[in-house]
Amino acid sequence: MITYKAHIIDTPTPQAFRIIENGYVTVSDEGRVVYAGSQLPATAGELVDFGDRLLIPAFNDLHLHAPQYRNNGLAMDLELLPWLERYTFPEEMKFADTDYARRIYTRFVHELWMQGTMRSAVFATIHPEATCVLADLFRKAGLGAYVGLVAMDRNAPNGLCNTAKEAFAAVSVLDDELGRDGIVRAIVTPRFIPSCSEEMLTTLGRLAKERNLPVQSHLSENRHEIDWVHELEPDATCYGDAYNRYGLFGQTPTLMAHCCYTNDEEMRLMRENGVCIVHCPTSNSNLASGMAPVRRFLDNGIRVALGTDVSGGHYMSMLRVIQYAVQTSKMHFAQSRGSIPFLSLSEAFYLATKSGGSFFGRVGSFEPGYDFDALVIDDSYLNFDRYTLPERIGRFIYIGDDRDIRVRFCQGRELPEPPLVV
Ligand code: GUN
Ligand code: FE
Repeated sequence: MITYKAHIIDTPTPQAFRIIENGYVTVSDEGRVVYAGSQLPATAGELVDFGDRLLIPAFNDLHLHAPQYRNNGLAMDLELLPWLERYTFPEEMKFADTDYARRIYTRFVHELWMQGTMRSAVFATIHPEATCVLADLFRKAGLGAYVGLVAMDRNAPNGLCNTAKEAFAAVSVLDDELGRDGIVRAIVTPRFIPSCSEEMLTTLGRLAKERNLPVQSHLSENRHEIDWVHELEPDATCYGDAYNRYGLFGQTPTLMAHCCYTNDEEMRLMRENGVCIVHCPTSNSNLASGMAPVRRFLDNGIRVALGTDVSGGHYMSMLRVIQYAVQTSKMHFAQSRGSIPFLSLSEAFYLATKSGGSFFGRVGSFEPGYDFDALVIDDSYLNFDRYTLPERIGRFIYIGDDRDIRVRFCQGRELPEPPLVV
């Protein structure tokens, strides 16, 4: 048992920040929150005083591509489909070389740690060895992750295609290797419908069902992509239905990134099947994809998380994604002449913490029973003139960065800085 004292800030509900000035969080030996409040509990164990610092839940990035890390901040002059062909597929092909993969993935995992992202749902590539290296780096760093061996067998260069059989075998091996006890696990990852034949989708649906594995993919991101899916899957009632037919749409816990053009039919399917949408506003802006109607998703009772979508998104900071989510929703507000309410800062923070965290269990809040995934924030550089605590969390989200993060906890463990070089 251990108790931390600081200004505690989290979002048990999206409507408002819960702010406990000079509060306490008590954490069990298993790394779970047993108490958060303003009184020092009778059984508190050792007391660690963080003074005037903020203690907030760590971030959860529910959609990003580890092998695109080198392309961050590059290649933003094309829309999705030519962008994949011209910049992304050539970079991902390099991960056939496991030494190259280890070098890039080492930096990638370091950056997740640096940005305070303790849990993530990650696309790797089709390469089993490189993907094992990535999973291993996560385990060594103590970070939680769903690691996706990507499946694709059409409309890509030969070097980036695997067969349904290979994908089935490789994901099974990764799942056996990682098991279900730790915080690094396998996830079934069809890249998107244009990359996956009927045989591939059938096989992955069977794999997800047989092993009860979660699923992640892309959905309704770009207009040209959607037209193409209608040509490829003419019988599907909507893009989402093309996954649903194969048992890849909520039959097991499912993440679908983007959803810029999700229509009523697709929304109905997502609600009925409990599919979680991953909103990636920086990527949707960089690739000129569009603006996802997040308010409509929330009003329809659909779970929404946030993702950086590196390298469609240019930067791995979830702070910037929270900020962009609010700003994008304000463009929607303006476009709708004020009829679509924009996201509040606490709502966007909730999406990046408790909502995304729910994909990993009880993660993303300081309520009792939640894993203690937390960041200690020293905002003294920003707090030069007696700002209030609501002002301080707002300023940290908008203009703070990783330099203000002093301590990182995942499941109660303080995580040391992982290596930057192999
Ligand atoms: N759709 C299929 N592959 C990708 C990818 O790598 N990034 C994004 N943003 N969308 C995709
Ligand atoms: Fe993506």
